Amino acid sequence: MNSRQELPSWQFLVGHAKQMKKQHLNTLFARDQQRFDKFSIKLPHLLLDYSKNLVTNETMAGLVKLAQDCDVEQWREKMFSGAKINQTENRSVLHTALRDRSGKTLLIDGEDITATINQSLDKMRDFVRQVRQGDWKGYSGKRITDIVNIGVGGSNLGPQMVTEALKHYSDNSVNVHYVSNVDGAHIAEVLRPLDPASVLFIVSSKTFTTTETITNATTAKNWLTSASFNNDAVKHHFVAVTSNLENATAFGIDAENIFSMWDWVGGRFSLWSAIGLPIALDMGFDNFIALLEGAHEMDKHFVETPLATNTPVILALLSLWNTTFLGAQSQAILPYDQTLHMLAAYLQQAEMESNGKSVSWHGEDIEYQTVPSIWGGVGINGQHAFYQYLHQSKNIIPADFIGSIESSTPVKGHHETLMSNFFAQTEALMCGVDEAQVREDLKAKGRSQAYIDQLAPHKVHQGNRPTNTILLDRIDPHNMGCLIALYENKIFVQGIILQICSFDQWGVELGKGLAKKIQLELAAGGEVGQHDSSTTNLINYYKSQRTD
Ligand code: F6P
Repeated sequence: MNSRQELPSWQFLVGHAKQMKKQHLNTLFARDQQRFDKFSIKLPHLLLDYSKNLVTNETMAGLVKLAQDCDVEQWREKMFSGAKINQTENRSVLHTALRDRSGKTLLIDGEDITATINQSLDKMRDFVRQVRQGDWKGYSGKRITDIVNIGVGGSNLGPQMVTEALKHYSDNSVNVHYVSNVDGAHIAEVLRPLDPASVLFIVSSKTFTTTETITNATTAKNWLTSASFNNDAVKHHFVAVTSNLENATAFGIDAENIFSMWDWVGGRFSLWSAIGLPIALDMGFDNFIALLEGAHEMDKHFVETPLATNTPVILALLSLWNTTFLGAQSQAILPYDQTLHMLAAYLQQAEMESNGKSVSWHGEDIEYQTVPSIWGGVGINGQHAFYQYLHQSKNIIPADFIGSIESSTPVKGHHETLMSNFFAQTEALMCGVDEAQVREDLKAKGRSQAYIDQLAPHKVHQGNRPTNTILLDRIDPHNMGCLIALYENKIFVQGIILQICSFDQWGVELGKGLAKKIQLELAAGGEVGQHDSSTTNLINYYKSQRTD
């Protein structure tokens, strides 16, 4: 059977969705006092409440049946055991092995990758110790004070998001900076206050061919060598994380200073590898290990728990339900923790680059709605910006609310204000307020009838807007590992059910190729004429107007 749509469980959900669209969450809660108990999962450090979704027992049973019919458990086993489930690139998908703390050995194509991973971790540990203790010296003998990670996409977002999330674990042994954008403003701004004699660059690029990263790395190299008058400086100030040893050494990086990456780790799933070096440099290697342990704990939960109580599976099924069956087009990620301010950006790449596709793994057009677009930002700031849209627009935007019981940086009175908003928003999005209530409230405030008549329709909130609440004990390395692995495993399950190859990213290649061609055209004299008239005229206008 090729299409998911032919499965009876899929067809059941299509019919059931039509019924559920007529329901209101308020009614479902009124009918069932056990709703929270039924539709929430408590793990040691994390609570998922999904009761504020438009689901019933029947819905959840239907979704779990669909997951069974799509062989999610068998696919999960394939991924963890190293089967080549990245079909278009014929690769294993083993970011989970990078954080497997069980000690079991995994052989891939005859190679003991557990040993390979452990060697890499040993090398990282040694390097992190040298740098943080000041034993790693720059060309002039000074210790390293600043780390600049140069990378983009998966070679930036994961490490930077985690560094930001765990800032309170940094002991400031070194200052960690990130450069991702090829806009010169980014690197210039980062380098301006730094002393070349005490900066260490990490060139993070799985392929070592990404134009933006190589351009930034070259600028950094020129900055260093012109300040030091010393070409040899590169060996003291540059390390690389890559699977392309040849290009990295040709760039001038000492082979000793190259940390490995492997084709069985996708860029957007790579923060668990040496791509996570800046995290370890910032907060110490033990905390990096705690991050891996947290992720491993979530992997164990994912592998060992029945589908119906399996957190990543449930999140994937709810996304599918809200999007494919109920018709939502986007999903908001709303952390109520300042430390998680990059989470939405990180999950945009994780989910959208993985599953933002419309061709099935059989190479056929997919007829159903696949994954939503992901967006968001820290909740409090969002409340004063885009929440109006969440509450009253014509579009329903399912949202994940993520908060923590303990504040990472307690300041008297702040956390309770923050968390009262956290709880209030999911309640408001679900319950809404009807016109009768609005009128009553205005009347109680002594408003005139004319004023009430005019204002009442504007104050009505339909409610019935689905949310998940994820409540962590606290934002610490272990729990961050758990949280990220939760989403990674969710993305995997979504891909399996939607029949999407989640681990390639062909959709980013077309634009990259065109940019290379246009870069040559920008460098050449005269006008261009090979493009459509819009692109041709834009390029020619740019060329005629630029002054440099
Ligand atoms: O262009 C997208 C992408 O290929 C991502 O998948 C990847 O994370 C990023 O570019 C960076 O790639 P690299 O680590 O090879 O420089």
